[in-house]
Amino acid sequence: MKIAVAGGTGVVGTHVVREAEYAGHEVLSLSRSTGVDLTSGTGLAEHLRGVDAVIDCLSVETVKRKVAVDFFTTTTRTLLDAEQAAGVPHHLVLSIVGVDRVRYGHYDGKVAQEHAVRDSGRPFTILRATQFHEFAEQMSRRGRLGPIIAMPRIAAAPVAAREVAQALLDLAGLPPAGRTYELGGPERRDLVDMARALARRTGRRTPVVPLVVPGAASKAMRSGALVPHDPWRTGVETYDAWLASRTA
Ligand SMILES: NC(=O)c1ccc[n+]([C@@H]2O[C@H](COP(=O)([O-])OP(=O)(O)OC[C@H]3O[C@@H](n4cnc5c(N)ncnc54)[C@H](OP(=O)(O)O)[C@@H]3O)[C@@H](O)[C@H]2O)c1
Repeated sequence: MKIAVAGGTGVVGTHVVREAEYAGHEVLSLSRSTGVDLTSGTGLAEHLRGVDAVIDCLSVETVKRKVAVDFFTTTTRTLLDAEQAAGVPHHLVLSIVGVDRVRYGHYDGKVAQEHAVRDSGRPFTILRATQFHEFAEQMSRRGRLGPIIAMPRIAAAPVAAREVAQALLDLAGLPPAGRTYELGGPERRDLVDMARALARRTGRRTPVVPLVVPGAASKAMRSGALVPHDPWRTGVETYDAWLASRTA
């Protein structure tokens, strides 16, 4: 197959590109660092000629609702318009388990993205996954406050981004499935504990301090809104096994 990966330089996108190449597919990585800005999409349809599936792994780092909603709806429409012009028969998007159970800026953007895909009339598959093992690292970077790392308590079911990438590729080889199963990791972990384990593994001495954020969204995340409730598939690799496989 010929597969285009939007956000192919990101955490999960890198795995999608690597696994796809390993499986012998022809792969096109689309991101600003490969010369394609998907908020405008100039010349995108040309890139997509002959592509069998587009896998959307784009993201924007923001907690602001408007920024997230604008980014995810604009990039989704840009991709879908170009796919229609180029005759791409399958659009896949990675979403997040529980996005519609928590009112939070980034998640509102993901909900808007799912709607844009569903309302487009184009053939699609939506896979929802839980937080990646890499999420603790992403949040540690964002939570750095001078001498500490401030980390919210979130009940997670962390999953290996590599296994999410593999699931997306498997789905790309099947007919469009609409909203499909949810994928989560094999165990529940608290994000603060994950970040502390990561700091121990990497030898980082900056203390990870639990942050109690007031409000309904944080309460929902602490109470398990982001772990799968529906019938779901479970990844294999545990967070500790993933950490152990990392070079410090
Ligand atoms: N992180 C998690 O734990 C997790 C869990 C479940 C689902 N998800 C979902 O999975 C998706 C990917 O997450 P991630 O953590 O892998 O993201 P990420 O590491 O932040 O990567 C984002 C990607 O988007 C690209 N990008 C951003 N703005 C762009 C633009 N204007 N035009 C073209 N490319 C652009 C970036 O490349 P450039 O900067 O080079 O443009 C990068 O390749 C997100 O939608 C997220 O909601 C994430």
